[in-house]
Amino acid sequence: RAGEIAARLGYRVFAAGGVVRDILLKAGNLDIDLVVEGDGIALAEALAGAYGAQVRAHRKFGTAEVLFPDGFKVDVATARVEFYEYPAALPRVESSCVRHDLYRRDFTINAMAVDLNGEHFGDLIDFFGGRQDLQQGLIRVLYNLSFIEDPIRLLRAVRFEQRYGFKIESQTLKLVQEAVRREVLARVSAERLWEELKHILMEERAGRMLERLHQLGIWPFAFHGVTYWEVQPVLHDLGESMQLLEEWGFPPVNEPWLCYFIAALHWTDPETARSLCERYHLNKRQTGKVLATLANWRPVLSRLCLRDGVRTSELARALLLLPPEAHPLILTLLDEEWLKERFRQLLVLLREKPTVDGTYIKNLGYRPGPIFRRALDAVWRARLDGLVKNTEEEKAFVQEF
Ligand code: CTP
Repeated sequence: RAGEIAARLGYRVFAAGGVVRDILLKAGNLDIDLVVEGDGIALAEALAGAYGAQVRAHRKFGTAEVLFPDGFKVDVATARVEFYEYPAALPRVESSCVRHDLYRRDFTINAMAVDLNGEHFGDLIDFFGGRQDLQQGLIRVLYNLSFIEDPIRLLRAVRFEQRYGFKIESQTLKLVQEAVRREVLARVSAERLWEELKHILMEERAGRMLERLHQLGIWPFAFHGVTYWEVQPVLHDLGESMQLLEEWGFPPVNEPWLCYFIAALHWTDPETARSLCERYHLNKRQTGKVLATLANWRPVLSRLCLRDGVRTSELARALLLLPPEAHPLILTLLDEEWLKERFRQLLVLLREKPTVDGTYIKNLGYRPGPIFRRALDAVWRARLDGLVKNTEEEKAFVQEF
């Protein structure tokens, strides 16, 4: 429908960027970016009108988001019109627009479009050999100054390379090295750097991406003051641990990127960690989780590794000092099977709360007070240590307490 609506307005519209790449790769992608030769915001409004969707317009940039009732989102951009200013280009002005828009992009594989207009509907627009690079698995920039103009693309090159198991093409690799040598990333704002870094930490192959950032000399710009080698083995295996926890039936955490961030920082000193959290504007809760891990992972690990003489309740108490986002880190650091199994059992036990609660104690005729907490804590420990096994025994335990 976008093509028909555009035609009515006298515009031309194209699907561009990541969606085209992912269609050709047969990979899933729910983000649709439209490029309009005409007024992008007007098209967004017409599209929204036709489907009962909402529009969020950014007039300064000529862009808009169309938010459909079912949660689906389409980004609409206005193709740059500078080409109108070139008299020589006038006869081809319309196709020049989308070409110009595509030329400004990061890599050839992201610089293709699909025509959505009339009889050309479905035609691939590929000015820069994106399709061939996709077939050959190459990440290639469109022009030599690409990384200088937008240093964030250094991280994006690594992200796409590792996500698809591609290679950075040799000339592009030279430009990467040159840009890193010129320290172009030092002048990027922390906000932009974090936005891209967080994308990396959310990727399935984040560990490999971080390793590649290190290989290319990008790591110190992202994790200033953190020595990569100290965390390399953990980052390498963290994804596997996250998967194992899921296979064991533990729900995934809400912010999986924080698992990687915590793992990357666990070896560092608290001041460095705190300043990175500040630099990237982590909130109080997230910063608290990072610092709690730094302070507690060693004692948790050493208790878990004790063969005898450690009560389950003691282990549980230690483990509760860590956020769930640190569990993959602990699991990765436990290198023997029996230890991993012990950790699993402990996490299962922690999920089971005793059935007696404050109301039960109140019904026994006690007035709420500090004794409640002590009694509940004691019954929790007794349950973990196997001293009470069911609700009846819990009740008896509390009454005796
Ligand atoms: N882009 C760019 N330079 C950047 C960021 C984005 O050229 N620094 C371009 C790319 O052409 C990209 C498009 O803007 O395809 C949309 O960016 P984004 O949504 O971040 O990337 P996707 O390619 O959709 O990738 P992902 O699958 O990670 O969402």
